[in-house]
Amino acid sequence: MSGPSKYQPTSAVGKWFHERLPIVAFAKDHALDFPTPKNLNYWYTFGGILAVMLVVQIITGIVLVMHYTPHVDMAFASVEHIMRDVNYGWMLRYLHMNGASMFFIAVYIHMFRGMYYGSYKAPREVLWMIGVIIYLVMMATAFMGYVLPWGQMSFWGAKVITNLFSAIPFVGPEITTWLWGGYSVDNPTLNRFFSLHYLLPFVLAGIVFLHIWALHVVGNNNPTGISVKSDKDTVPFHPYYTLKDGFAIVVFLIFYAAFVFYGPNYMGDAVNYVQANPLATPEHIKPEWYYLPFYAILRSINNKLLGVVAMFSSILILLFLPWLDTSRVRSGKYRPIFKLEFWVFCVVCVALGFVGAQKPNDTLSWIGFLLTLYYFAHFIIFLPLMGLLEQPKRLPNSISEDVLAHSHGKLAAAE
Ligand code: HEM
Repeated sequence: MSGPSKYQPTSAVGKWFHERLPIVAFAKDHALDFPTPKNLNYWYTFGGILAVMLVVQIITGIVLVMHYTPHVDMAFASVEHIMRDVNYGWMLRYLHMNGASMFFIAVYIHMFRGMYYGSYKAPREVLWMIGVIIYLVMMATAFMGYVLPWGQMSFWGAKVITNLFSAIPFVGPEITTWLWGGYSVDNPTLNRFFSLHYLLPFVLAGIVFLHIWALHVVGNNNPTGISVKSDKDTVPFHPYYTLKDGFAIVVFLIFYAAFVFYGPNYMGDAVNYVQANPLATPEHIKPEWYYLPFYAILRSINNKLLGVVAMFSSILILLFLPWLDTSRVRSGKYRPIFKLEFWVFCVVCVALGFVGAQKPNDTLSWIGFLLTLYYFAHFIIFLPLMGLLEQPKRLPNSISEDVLAHSHGKLAAAE
């Protein structure tokens, strides 16, 4: 926040309170007056959308828990009870189930937006790294949540993923036993996953607070990637971005509602409507869509330990992104080669997701392997090299100049 707070309490009680806890000043400075670049586009509304989705997940989750039983003999039936007997239980469950997918759609857009505009570059490295931690916690939370209905895919998914830890040399089997709370995925596993699935969203809320704090220390990046140079480059957050974010949130909620009311199981797996059976392995075990690219990376290497290392590295490498990208220019808008390579990278990620969803065969394994190589090459080879070799386009002198150039261009076209 630049400069001292402009908040002046108008009443005696307000002044008394302000001197003891300046929370109103804090809220005004950070939610209303915060100077925000005036050129943020709709890709910048996804942070707000994510915050709304976190709240939706917490509220629907808390109410679901009022009717859910975390025991292997009753979990599946309690979910069916929610769907059939509890008033609007079907809606609560579909909101929560599809809410998780919406959360991931929003987070992927938010992350790729950051990658395109170079939002991870100095001085936003810590903001970005907190984001990566948020993403990891989201993945863990969703994974444990998926186990709770105790369907076939819940059980076998949990079994496959927890088993991965057994590949760790020497201590692997002990770690797996410790995670399970026994010698197989069973009631203690369900219980601890339930406990953590309830806890982690609140941890997430705390980390999101740090994320916004870090954002407000350095300020938003923007589509030009040029730093704010004067007051002319910014507008107060309210009413400009409260309205823009508000509009985007409503559109996003309509998209979400379309799934909840017209295709609630579109993104799910029919096999999870069969109760978990440790004696019958489903024909094709695959995780939810948002894990599929990583699942493809895991399976692309014909060695369990190396596959596990590749999978975890593919996520952890994001932590080093601020230092792997050597470009002086932040925004991809002014980087012709990066721009092209960025879209190839996006296609590679989607293709990895596609491969992750298929039953494995020789050809697909090869394709998966090549895509995995590209995924890592993007970070380790292309980003560092492109930054050094590429000649960026000329940057505008300021955010204001860019905005005016665009509006003059539009005016000239209209005349
Ligand atoms: C619950 C999840 C998250 C919430 C609620 C959240 C919230 C926000 C908000 C409100 C903003 C400002 C508005 C905007 O730029 O969209 C923001 C910015 C940002 N977030 Fe997140 N975020 C989340 C997850 C992540 C993740 C997973 C990453 C990266 C791995 C990330 C990286 C960033 C970056 C780099 C910015 C600055 C963007 C810029 O100024 O150009 N965030 N976040």
